[in-house]
Amino acid sequence: MTESGKVATVSLEGKTASLPVLSGVLGPDVLDIRKIAADLGVFTFDPGYGETASCESKITFIDGGKGVLLHRGYPISQLAEQATFMEVAHLLLNGELPTRAQNDAFVSTIKSHTLLHEQIRNFFNGFRRDAHPMAILCGTVGALSAFYHEGTDISNAASRELSAMRLIAKLPTIAAWAYKYTQGEAFVYPRNDLNYAENFLSMMFAHPSEPYVVNPVLARAMDRILILHADHEQNASTSTVRLAGSTGANPFACIAAGIAALWGPAHGGANEAVLKMLAEIGSKDNIPDFISKVKDKNSGVRLMGFGHRVYKNFDPRAKIMQATCHEVLSELGIKDDPLLDLAIELEKIAIHDEYFVKRSLYPNVDFYSGIILKAMGIPTSMFTVLFAVARTVGWISQWKEMIEEPGQRIGRPRQLYTGSPQRDFPSYDQRG
Ligand code: CMC
Repeated sequence: MTESGKVATVSLEGKTASLPVLSGVLGPDVLDIRKIAADLGVFTFDPGYGETASCESKITFIDGGKGVLLHRGYPISQLAEQATFMEVAHLLLNGELPTRAQNDAFVSTIKSHTLLHEQIRNFFNGFRRDAHPMAILCGTVGALSAFYHEGTDISNAASRELSAMRLIAKLPTIAAWAYKYTQGEAFVYPRNDLNYAENFLSMMFAHPSEPYVVNPVLARAMDRILILHADHEQNASTSTVRLAGSTGANPFACIAAGIAALWGPAHGGANEAVLKMLAEIGSKDNIPDFISKVKDKNSGVRLMGFGHRVYKNFDPRAKIMQATCHEVLSELGIKDDPLLDLAIELEKIAIHDEYFVKRSLYPNVDFYSGIILKAMGIPTSMFTVLFAVARTVGWISQWKEMIEEPGQRIGRPRQLYTGSPQRDFPSYDQRG
């Protein structure tokens, strides 16, 4: 960041604060308010942090108004079309796309960490068979810190690097096993002759009793889904990872915190919620009724897969997801998918409806991803898990960037207190 030379002046009751305006490479300037409390005796109020830049970052840039998403400067469309998920992971973590030799080394390191400690198998048995796989994922990832003690030394660069590689490598194994466990099926071990996406599909769908051949179109679609979910700057789960990490907590615990934050239906749980919503709507005839409910503020119903805190235009990931959706359905010979028909109809209506237009509510990445994943045979409960597998790359890159920042401090927001003023402790007789 650079000082723009501009200064905003804020006055309050005779006191004046000069707030330097800082410039990034892209995007709006920001006001540096770090001295505002010292100069004016007030804090700033921004619930939901919609107007607050919580950190400086070189990883991802979003222009929500224009529908732009860049990773380390590269447009998401070019990455989704031309890169592999492993190249994107290298890019996010290290700042540059790998050379061929660097890519081979990166992939080989990831492959050398795909297995889980055999003792971790026992963790799965502690869960009920009907547990949500996100619960299993969250618990098991948190437990990794009990297995990799050296990963808790976050002051050591080599140890940070090793933890990052372990997390990226092991997440698909934990995720697939969480699914297998809920199905009562045998765990399938990682296969290092396959790439990241192929290996995930194999661990999800193979059985030890027979050979499994990965469909290349589906593997490419899976790789693209992983790329599209890899990072999204300071969203709720990433901010959670940074906040947890700012205390010096180990990376496994921080990623478990990110998984917990991702689970909610307003965030990563939305792709699961989209499919539930489509199933509830049932048929095109019910769309008008459903849209009326969405517009009625008292109903509490939202059009899932629509709207975004940052994008006030088409989510660029949604466009790629829509194209991938058609590729997958055509490969699988699914000509008339009732859910897709319903989704397309809903999209058409919503894009032209005044309620959505006025509020700039466009389809987001989750609107189509659920349909693709369902067509691929991934159960609904695994949608957010897959999102977590992909986002682990972004989370750990953001965590690493934060830890390596000179002068990094604990994240500790302030508050506007509206509770009781100070009062004296009453005896039982004085209460009620
Ligand atoms: N359906 C109906 N109305 C909506 C929706 C929606 N999906 N999203 C926002 N609105 C309305 C909202 O009621 C409000 O209207 P009004 O101004 O009349 O009060 C206005 O649009 C602004 O909404 P907001 O809640 O202030 O917006 P936000 O930035 O706080 O919320 C959001 C963003 C993503 C949580 C929200 O759009 C939403 O709940 N969408 C559905 C869930 C979803 O698809 N989430 C996935 C997000 S993309 C993947 C990810 O990043 O995890």
